[in-house]
Amino acid sequence: MGKSILITGGAGFIGSHVVRHFLHKYPDYQIVNLDLLTYAGNLENLLDIETFPNYKFVKGDIRNEAIVDQLFQKYQFDALIHLAAESHVDRSISNPLDFLTTNVLGTVVLLQVAKKYWKNDWNGKLFYHVSTDEVYGSLGETGMFTEQTPYDPHSPYSASKASSDHFVRAYGDTYGMPYIISNCSNNYGPNQFPEKLLPLFINNIRNNKALPVYGDGANTRDWLWVKDHAAAIDLIFHKGVSGETYNIGGFNEWKNIDLIRLLCQVCDEQLNRSAGSAEKLITYVKDRPGHDRRYAIDAGKLASTLGFKPSLNFEEGLRLTVKWYLDNTQWLDHVTSGLYQAYYEKQYQNR
Ligand code: NAD
Ligand code: DAU
Repeated sequence: MGKSILITGGAGFIGSHVVRHFLHKYPDYQIVNLDLLTYAGNLENLLDIETFPNYKFVKGDIRNEAIVDQLFQKYQFDALIHLAAESHVDRSISNPLDFLTTNVLGTVVLLQVAKKYWKNDWNGKLFYHVSTDEVYGSLGETGMFTEQTPYDPHSPYSASKASSDHFVRAYGDTYGMPYIISNCSNNYGPNQFPEKLLPLFINNIRNNKALPVYGDGANTRDWLWVKDHAAAIDLIFHKGVSGETYNIGGFNEWKNIDLIRLLCQVCDEQLNRSAGSAEKLITYVKDRPGHDRRYAIDAGKLASTLGFKPSLNFEEGLRLTVKWYLDNTQWLDHVTSGLYQAYYEKQYQNR
């Protein structure tokens, strides 16, 4: 029997790709997916793998020490891949406390229980913490985030992720917890909740709704295909060095407005609409408070030490992404029914 692994947040966007990747590639691993199924967690993301014999889904909260303890007791985990989080910057601005409790307290609960079960023999154990490039703050026109860039978070989301990273390192330094942290750039691809830029705009284009571009549209993000993030996590999990940090990215920076124009073009093509239709929906709206200007990840360490290379070029990935959402309108309609409407009204009113 291979490893026994607890994956948290496996019903979300990236987590579902990580769970699928590990189940297919490592049939001898036992994978337990602990997820609270918040608005962002969705078992429809996992329909194709839910009957795998070595997979178990558990609905539960990482902040609940009793649940986490029971799972460690039952499955005797060798490792944890921790993705569960509140992940949307705009929501962190209107509701920071959920970000504090899940992202910080939840991470410390996991660390505490892992320490309880592993402290007599750290050998072969690993706390793999999935983090973000947003902890490094905002760049000017030049430069990139390296693993040495000092932390400088600006949103409640990035402050909570930075804090959780510090706790993981503190458990390593203080108690000897074997850990790895990876900090990744913006992911894109299937199954992303349509509050984030790309799925939100694809859904709005299909429904002929306005495309709300924050500020002047010149903020820059660095985009990575979500399945490449899952592959990078696998590589780092198996080959990375305990106590190290790895930046993950694809050297793929886009100004928002350039990306949105390309997206409009791809959507027009795939929806068989005349060229320029989607671009007419672009609407500049009030900026996000504290909006980080530019992110760019230097993923050189991951490439040179572990040989990571993204599998797709961006235009190819964007076309696959648009196709997935247009082929899966039922998924989109399910996740945008109910509470999503209230969120949308509140988020975009008066902008
Ligand atoms: P997501 O919002 O799509 O999914 C988060 C998942 O966590 C959901 O399934 C949700 O139900 C679950 N969850 C939330 N609170 C929980 C709790 N208290 N207990 C148990 N489960 C809970 O997020 P995502 O975009 O897939 O991000 C996953 C991780 O990757 C996060 O830690 C995020 O910070 C990090 N990350 C995301 C990106 C990105 O571009 N999306 C980039 C870098 C890093
Ligand atoms: O960099 C990694 C981070 O990327 C992750 O840690 C976060 O979990 C993830 O949500 C993402 O954060 P961003 O804030 O970069 O992603 P978002 O999709 O919300 O926004 C991308 C850019 O698009 C950003 O500059 C804000 C802008 N934007 C976003 C929305 C939702 C708009 O212009 N209009 C919008 O309606």
